Amino acid sequence: MKRRDFFYCVASLLGLAFAGQVKSREASLGSAASISNRLYGAAVRGDLLQQDGAYRRCVLANCSSITPELALKWAALQPQPDQFDFSEMDYLMRFAKANGMAVYGHTLLWHESIPAWALEPMATKKDWGIIQRYMETVLGRLAGSIRYWDVVNEPIDTVDGVDGLRNSPFLAAFGPDYIPNALRTARMLAPAARLMINEFGVEYDLAVEDDRRSRLLKLLETLRKGGVPIDGLGLQAHLELAKGQVSQQKLKPFLDAVADLGLEIYVTELDVREGNYAQAPDRRDRDVADAVSRYLDIVMPYSNLRGITTWGICDRYSWLQITPEDLAKYGDIWKDGSGPGLNRGLPFDASMQPKPFSNALLQAFSDSRVKYGRD
Ligand code: G3I
Repeated sequence: MKRRDFFYCVASLLGLAFAGQVKSREASLGSAASISNRLYGAAVRGDLLQQDGAYRRCVLANCSSITPELALKWAALQPQPDQFDFSEMDYLMRFAKANGMAVYGHTLLWHESIPAWALEPMATKKDWGIIQRYMETVLGRLAGSIRYWDVVNEPIDTVDGVDGLRNSPFLAAFGPDYIPNALRTARMLAPAARLMINEFGVEYDLAVEDDRRSRLLKLLETLRKGGVPIDGLGLQAHLELAKGQVSQQKLKPFLDAVADLGLEIYVTELDVREGNYAQAPDRRDRDVADAVSRYLDIVMPYSNLRGITTWGICDRYSWLQITPEDLAKYGDIWKDGSGPGLNRGLPFDASMQPKPFSNALLQAFSDSRVKYGRD
């Protein structure tokens, strides 16, 4: 048994008391979300769920859904052409099942998670069989238990792309048809799944985001008109305070057009990169929560919104790290050796205490009484 398999196997045996830890769900984000028949989830990591009890309890207390932050990416799942590793994913599936949580499938095709071994044969042989075999294995194993799948992640690039599509190894090998082909392959292998395209960068009144919205919409329209199986759009929603305020004027017509195409939406990766680390922590938290509230005010009224996932749950484990370059912008204000701590862009702080972000979510969920039928 490999070290990683052994770890998750022991972890499962020790941790089968999962189900007993769910009691505090009452006041949770997940139960607030369920008022409007939606899910609240967080991107999670299996190793952290095992190692950090406070983190695990926070996830258990709040999430009605989890998204694997790393475990369901191609490079993690198929490290070698003839070797699949589902150990972390199996663990997360058991964890979710024991606690009545949904799992959101992130992600099948993403240019940043292609295993190194696949790059050369994809580029030279243009062999779709590589993708077919990978999708067959992953969906064959998980399609029955995961409803939402980010089939293609981040296909848009209006700056360096080709006709607005990201110049990824997929585009280079298969041309723009890789998108409909991936969706058709996914439908065949997972007939009951909701098939999503997941994108970032559509929230602000910026020229580059105008271009992204319009290219993404064009892609979705083309897919729908061509009868390609696509069920929805994942909105990553990595908010950035330095970009200004989320633009209702820009976002709403975009979401209206997505809804007019008959597509669902799902907020898949909500978090906030702060704009001013020099302020007092409570002011920083308020700025973050204000941005979140503003965003939620725009998206929550959409009856085709199925759920909200934050990209992580607590600042202790956020991908949004403050870099030395960020700090350099503030001169020597922390010359005494202190610093701004972590980026504060998730619902719970580094000690798992709820912050105004969490209240903003609770408020938005409980204000939202939109009822829709799940098909
Ligand atoms: O855990 C190892 C550690 O042992 C090692 O020392 C270190 C050295 O680099 O790497 C650590 O793994 C890193 C892992 O995050 C955990 O921190 C990987 O290198 C790093 O590539 C990985 O980054 C993840 C990234 O996707 C690529 O998979 C981020 O955590 C994850 O938050 C990010 O998530 C993406 C979404 O999938 C798509 N949308 C954007 C989002 C943020 O970039």
